Amino acid sequence: MSLDPNGSKSLLLLVAGAKGAIGSTLAAAVSMLRHHPESVLPYLTTAGKFSRLFPQQAVHLAGWDVADHSLTTAISRHGVLPKAVWEPYQDEINRVEVFPSPSVDLDRAAQVQQIILDIQSLKTRFPDALPVFINLLPACAAEPSHAPETLSDIHAHTDASEFPDLSYALAAIACRIPVVNFTPNPLECPAVIQEAEKNGVCMAGCDGKTGQTYFKVVLASAFKARNLQVDGWYSLNILGNADGKNLMDPERAAGKLANKTHLLDDILGYPVGEKYGAPSHKVHIDYYPPRGDAKEAWDVIDLIGLFDLPMSIRVNLQGRDSILAAPLVLDLARWMAALSISGRKGLIPELGFYFKKPMGDCPPVTFQEQLNCLQSLEKDL
Ligand SMILES: NC(=O)c1ccc[n+]([C@@H]2O[C@H](COP(=O)([O-])OP(=O)(O)OC[C@H]3O[C@@H](n4cnc5c(N)ncnc54)[C@H](O)[C@@H]3O)[C@@H](O)[C@H]2O)c1
Repeated sequence: MSLDPNGSKSLLLLVAGAKGAIGSTLAAAVSMLRHHPESVLPYLTTAGKFSRLFPQQAVHLAGWDVADHSLTTAISRHGVLPKAVWEPYQDEINRVEVFPSPSVDLDRAAQVQQIILDIQSLKTRFPDALPVFINLLPACAAEPSHAPETLSDIHAHTDASEFPDLSYALAAIACRIPVVNFTPNPLECPAVIQEAEKNGVCMAGCDGKTGQTYFKVVLASAFKARNLQVDGWYSLNILGNADGKNLMDPERAAGKLANKTHLLDDILGYPVGEKYGAPSHKVHIDYYPPRGDAKEAWDVIDLIGLFDLPMSIRVNLQGRDSILAAPLVLDLARWMAALSISGRKGLIPELGFYFKKPMGDCPPVTFQEQLNCLQSLEKDL
């Protein structure tokens, strides 16, 4: 991807799952960036960055969804945003191009081809934009043990209806578009990484780190720095949005729970609960409809200090899933466009700050390491 040195471009976010809770919140945020940037920019971690490459407010959105209702109907149904935020811009939001997802009856190759055609039509409509693909599909039940090694493995051994994410990623890579995997779905298999490297495309994932896990990384890094021993950590989440409902299926929740769990031992450098013969770091997610997108999380953290004396901390997060997630998606799109311009390809582990399970070689683990990595990444651009 090249950039006219005399001019800056806009960003084009290509979102699979555009009418979901995060996708539709993002659509409103993109509109607000144009009309009221002061209501969005201060909440970005990339505010003030990359302005030499593309103007902060010039962002377009397009995507795919299985739902056939309008984007503003989706916003209204998810109940994330007050009407006053998006209603004045509803015509503009509904002009966002959201293609129907490829039929589940198509095989993998036909799905990829259809998405490539959609992307080509968007490239004609936004000829000067820097596209970034964002995966916001629901968590799926794909088994990581079947990670495809080659493209023919993907075609022969993956189910296009069960794991549609791969069709979108392969189409984006074929069109040389960077890929962000915000979902816990195992997109970063050897076959996809090889294709990305061959096509000079960068990829970042997986599983956006938005709420409880973000604070877990911060606190665990602080305990490690202070040499306080973590004896146990009990984390509970309730949420009532479509993601929460989907995660009630144990097979679909398995990837997310593993991502939320593994990182603690990695940060601390020892297995929490070893002396009990079983992990004492426990993570639960419960679907609780009254809350909608307004999730709540509780953490009970048991610590041991001098002379083995116990201490304990309680954390209660009353967050909003999509309000936390949408700005991070915008941030990731901006990073990936900038990295793409600088010629990076393959996985970008340095973006570990944004993910529960950062993919790539030696991703940064503690909060400080993650911040340091972002700083050096920016210096190299
Ligand atoms: N909200 C957060 O804080 C957070 C954090 C980390 C990861 N995630 C992940 O991000 C993803 C999106 O979250 P969400 O809350 O927006 O979910 P959601 O269920 O509200 O949205 C998913 C959207 O994908 C659409 N969809 C389903 N199959 C499709 C297909 N084949 N092609 C195109 N569209 C399709 C659905 O119709 C829906 O609109 C989930 O995987 C979730 O686990 C969310």
